[in-house]
Amino acid sequence: MSPNNLIIKNASQVVTCSGFGAKAGAAMNELHVIENGAVVVEDGVISAVGPSEELALRDVPADAAVIDAAGKAVLPGFVDSHTHFVFGGYRPDEYAWRLEGVPYMEIMRRGGGIVNTMAATREAGRQELGKAGEGRLDAMLAMGVTTVEGKSGYGLDLETELKQLEVMAELDAKHPVDVVRTFLGAHAVPPEYAGRSDDYIDHVIGAVLPVVAGRNLAHCCDVFCEKNVFSVDQSRRLLQRAKALGLQIKLHADEISALGGAELAAELGALSADHLLQATDDGIDAMAGAGVVATLLPATAFSLKESYARARDMIEKGCAVALATDFNPGSCFTFSIPLVVALATLYMGLTPEEAVTAITINGAAAVGRAGQVGSLDVGKAGDAVILSYPSYRFIPYHIGINTVEKVVKGGRLVVDRAK
Ligand code: NIG
Ligand code: FE
Repeated sequence: MSPNNLIIKNASQVVTCSGFGAKAGAAMNELHVIENGAVVVEDGVISAVGPSEELALRDVPADAAVIDAAGKAVLPGFVDSHTHFVFGGYRPDEYAWRLEGVPYMEIMRRGGGIVNTMAATREAGRQELGKAGEGRLDAMLAMGVTTVEGKSGYGLDLETELKQLEVMAELDAKHPVDVVRTFLGAHAVPPEYAGRSDDYIDHVIGAVLPVVAGRNLAHCCDVFCEKNVFSVDQSRRLLQRAKALGLQIKLHADEISALGGAELAAELGALSADHLLQATDDGIDAMAGAGVVATLLPATAFSLKESYARARDMIEKGCAVALATDFNPGSCFTFSIPLVVALATLYMGLTPEEAVTAITINGAAAVGRAGQVGSLDVGKAGDAVILSYPSYRFIPYHIGINTVEKVVKGGRLVVDRAK
């Protein structure tokens, strides 16, 4: 039996999320659901999608494995388009300090935060980082994530930034979850450059980015564009260089202050601008006009006890919104897709349909993979989740609980929680 030929049939819903690019504005509500549907995967690639009775008549490979999904909804594998999942150490004390009221940026000023994890990540061996990363990917996969974006940014020196990216490349090769790698060398100013952020950006541009790009270690480049971290000008300088070297670009933008990160993302044609808690109307308009995906991270706002990003305004102004976990050891120590969807629907006003679009095709667009994953369309990777319930509406409704029963990656059953 070929391990990558598969038919999923009799699904109460095949939620195709059909499309090859980000869905903006009202289109986010269109999920293109097929009742009593089937999906055929040949050699790991989707070869047919449609009503079960029609597909039953088609030639499906004789050796295909069959999954009877009666009473269950089938969706594309989820895309978690913003995480920092490879890092050393943990920061539980900072969580306790935040509960006492110390702000995130104050903890950073006191030498905690990103620089704390930097020290632990510099210390950590590759094997240790890989093992921890693998365990996290296993847990994400069990929640239906088949593509994840992972950032460097806890090395802040050449050696450790490369180490993080190489560990992610190894995990991509050996683990079912596809890992999109993002270089985030400008995540914070390391102690060696304290008070000299311009010099650090020069160093990243001159000595780190060229190696990362030359070795094809990253698909995207990101920057923490924030007051007291990296300015709009510094971010522009770095991202323009990254673009010239062939990387796609992303920004941590307008998270804590309205610095103009959304506008910069639009100006540079970024794939996405992320966080956006403080994005202005002008910034939102600019993103909508330039087709920049607004990647919203509600679990971070929740964890930092901040107000949520203005998702409704963004969608109404014509933005494409993606949802991601922002899993990291500081501001958001969770990779729970169910929690993210619950927060987005309860507190940001997304409809269940918009939330599904935001974790599938729009997540794929946010990492530059809307042509390959993020929907159940012929020609895309055979990445799918089968819920233990008959409708996608159970994803938000079953608050904080994993509704995914089975996960298929490239036509292979890689998770079966029914057993
Ligand atoms: O996306 N905002 C900056 N970076 C991460 C947090 C990293 C950390 O606290 O370790 C974020 O929230
Ligand atoms: Fe982040």
